Amino acid sequence: MSVFWLITGASRGLGAALARAAVARGDRVLGIARSPAAAGESLCLDLADLDALAAAVGARLADAQREEPAPQRWVLVNNAAVLGPIGSGWQAGDVEQVLRVNLGAPMVLARCFLDCLAGHPAPRLVLNVSSGAATRVIAGWSLYATSKAGLEHFGRCLAAEHRLDPRVAVVSLSPGVIDTDMQARIRATGPQDFPDHARFVALHEQGALADPDTVAASILRGVDRGLRWEGASCRLEEFAGP
Ligand SMILES: NC(=O)c1ccc[n+]([C@@H]2O[C@H](COP(=O)([O-])OP(=O)(O)OC[C@H]3O[C@@H](n4cnc5c(N)ncnc54)[C@H](OP(=O)(O)O)[C@@H]3O)[C@@H](O)[C@H]2O)c1
Repeated sequence: MSVFWLITGASRGLGAALARAAVARGDRVLGIARSPAAAGESLCLDLADLDALAAAVGARLADAQREEPAPQRWVLVNNAAVLGPIGSGWQAGDVEQVLRVNLGAPMVLARCFLDCLAGHPAPRLVLNVSSGAATRVIAGWSLYATSKAGLEHFGRCLAAEHRLDPRVAVVSLSPGVIDTDMQARIRATGPQDFPDHARFVALHEQGALADPDTVAASILRGVDRGLRWEGASCRLEEFAGP
């Protein structure tokens, strides 16, 4: 099975692990981040620049449909995200940046991905990487959590808009806590801005953070199941299956 992956945040953390795992098994990967992807082809740009993003990805997807062998599955992983300021000291500019990267870019990419591939016969999956914070209230994470709640609702709406097209699947996936730069940034924030600080420090000390490569392998397993998700929100275990 030849799979074409479009992965945001492919330079570090979970996105980098996914890109490496997909390339290692012979899939094609286009990774988007400000710095180069850990594996595959890189498209270096700032996801906050939504117009540039749509133009660059549209052009690349048009080319990809002419390449041989033709992909038998297309997967968009909206993985990149930023926490933004933790605590209540954020400003208007922070709101704009977090919502552009965490919500605007996934929406623009999903639209571009589905529109560009409209004439292609292969199945396509929009996989939005979410977080438990989309539904759980975590004091100090209002920007991040709100963006993830919006992303999950966008997934439900997008699936409804494409419910008559059996080629389209949409899922919001909460991957669990993973040992990445994002977790290091959480631990580096003082407890004065973040009441749950001690819990995240303890998770790290107890070795409870998942290895990004292990999470990536589970995501690949879930994608290979080829299920037609209709905007559902799920945890990694549900997505990856038995
Ligand atoms: N880590 C966890 O415990 C955890 C838990 C639940 C959910 N998640 C979710 O899992 C996903 C991956 O998280 P992670 O922990 O791997 O994060 P990470 O280690 O902080 O990596 C973030 C990635 O996003 C890219 N990125 C950030 N801002 C960008 C921008 N403006 N333009 C382009 N790329 C940008 C970064 O690349 P550049 O800096 O090179 O641009 C990097 O590749 C996120 O959606 C996160 O919310 C993580």
